[in-house]
Amino acid sequence: MTNSSDEVTSEVVVSVQPDYPRRGIVRQAITAVLSFLLVAVPGTLGGLFFLDPILRRKKSGGNSDSGAVQARKDSEGYIRLDVTRDAIPADGTPVSVTVFDDIDDAWNRFSNVPVGSIWLRRGTDGVVSAFNSICPHLGCSVNFRRAENDFFCPCHTSAFGLDGEKTNQIPPRGMDSLDVSLRTAGETDSNGSEIWVRFCNFRRATAEKIEIQ
Ligand code: FES
Repeated sequence: MTNSSDEVTSEVVVSVQPDYPRRGIVRQAITAVLSFLLVAVPGTLGGLFFLDPILRRKKSGGNSDSGAVQARKDSEGYIRLDVTRDAIPADGTPVSVTVFDDIDDAWNRFSNVPVGSIWLRRGTDGVVSAFNSICPHLGCSVNFRRAENDFFCPCHTSAFGLDGEKTNQIPPRGMDSLDVSLRTAGETDSNGSEIWVRFCNFRRATAEKIEIQ
């Protein structure tokens, strides 16, 4: 017989403690990752935004020495015109030509943008001369007058000879000549048919020819 009072009940009490320290570590890790993402993602996007022009330039072939740009403009600022020497009248009659260039601003490149207009002339000796068509008086456009065989500005009647020299006292100076380079396949060649012009604008209303940068 077994006396119930003699029964020994053995009870193992397991104490389950909350896992606070481990939860704290996990929480800290999650917070650290989220903080990192909150800083890293906008930072990376911002960096890409600011580097975008450089990256795009590299992707399109690099800086202004790249192939595409080099074909139209060289490192000295000469721009290849769309007209060839043979297309200019041999009798000295001037032709008006629009100059196109590639324009860069902080974020974009605009290709083949008209940046100005020039008068081109081929002398009987074959020499090609170029003049900016902006009147040095106050900036109107200078025209060619066939009947008078001269250049004339209708705004205040400035007149110029075909060599660009002023023929009355209204303009402060003659028309602004531009440097011309004849080339073949981009290489200097006095007999070449490509016409390259270093196009620039000049300050108005001054006797001195001052280039505007
Ligand atoms: S702007 Fe040409 S004459 Fe005055």
